[in-house]
Amino acid sequence: MNSEQNNSTQVLISPNLSSAQLKLASPLQLGIMASGSGSNMEAVAKAIASGELNAEIKVVIYNNPDAKVRSRAAKYNIPSVLIDHRHYRQREELDRVIVNTLKEYGVDWVVMAGWMRVVTQVLLAAFPGRVINIHPSLLPSFKGIRAVEQALKAKVKITGCTVHLVSLEVDSGEILIQSAVPVLPKDTPETLHARIQVQEHLILPQGIAIAASRE
Ligand code: GRF
Repeated sequence: MNSEQNNSTQVLISPNLSSAQLKLASPLQLGIMASGSGSNMEAVAKAIASGELNAEIKVVIYNNPDAKVRSRAAKYNIPSVLIDHRHYRQREELDRVIVNTLKEYGVDWVVMAGWMRVVTQVLLAAFPGRVINIHPSLLPSFKGIRAVEQALKAKVKITGCTVHLVSLEVDSGEILIQSAVPVLPKDTPETLHARIQVQEHLILPQGIAIAASRE
């Protein structure tokens, strides 16, 4: 193994909790919001199927008609609902429809897994302390869009991903778990994002369990 390969395998997840510490007494009723590919949604579905996360995905909400998350949800027999933000003039109006849909499906925890819209108090007040997001940087660095590109531009040597509670200010709520990923000399946004995503898939189910186990 050359040194580059060796570096690329070094990651650090914190907190590093055992599965026993993350066991939940009763199943969470999750609603997932996603705008794109849905690989994080699928990671949660797999963690549930393997017994790692005691939860059910009640519904997937997506906002782009051709989002791949729809077919991924179908693979797991998870209902999906298209709520296209382009049909709503105000963010609050959109969030009201989202909240109603989540409630209809009996959701008690909301996971934004690549939801590329800013959410409002309407959603946060409906699920207080129970909205979770995954972001492809070590917050509080590189908030907002194109976090991977931001990290490359800043020439940081370590970046990663963060699972956090959602607050009104974008990418600023309480941090639940992070994974650090080295930036390699030849990284492009695509290669770096791909390695970050491997870590996202590990820490998202854990972050959900961490948040829920504290209640
Ligand atoms: C992830 O990198 C996530 O951190 C960001 O959007 C991306 C979604 O990827 N918020 P996917 O749709 O889950 O594959």
